[in-house]
Amino acid sequence: MKCLRIAMLSMVSLVLIFSLAIAAGDAEKGKALFKDPKFGGGTAGVSCNSCHPDGKGLEKAGDMKGLEKQVNACVQNALKGKGIDPKSAEMTDILAYLKSLKGKTPAAGTPKK
Ligand code: HEC
Repeated sequence: MKCLRIAMLSMVSLVLIFSLAIAAGDAEKGKALFKDPKFGGGTAGVSCNSCHPDGKGLEKAGDMKGLEKQVNACVQNALKGKGIDPKSAEMTDILAYLKSLKGKTPAAGTPKK
């Protein structure tokens, strides 16, 4: 029976690790979405990156409350998309990317906020 318990335990921890990884989002995938004009159903032909090149100016966005809403505001107003489900994997990925910008020093020449 011990064997079974160990097997069960490792299954449970695998599931846990897996769901944590999903919840945390994937910054690399988020970065790709950030540069994708079709993100969120975008129709304007611009990506997040068009106005926020490499996330410039968004270094503090990771700390914002209601960041999902802000992302969707830009998706709808700027990309002319439909917006994305705040609980979707795409949203967690883009949030992970935005959070990864934190602490990055803006490139020389860009004004600090
Ligand atoms: C057409 C230009 C444009 C595009 C494209 C655009 N944004 Fe924005 N974004 C803005 C403007 C303008 C603001 C408001 C000014 C500011 O706060 O810097 C803003 C603000 C934000 C903020 C809040 C920043 C803050 O500190 O208040 C976030 C987060 C953000 N955008 C994310 C995104 C994401 C994610 C995308 C892609 C889905 C995107 N933006 C696409 C123009 C754009």
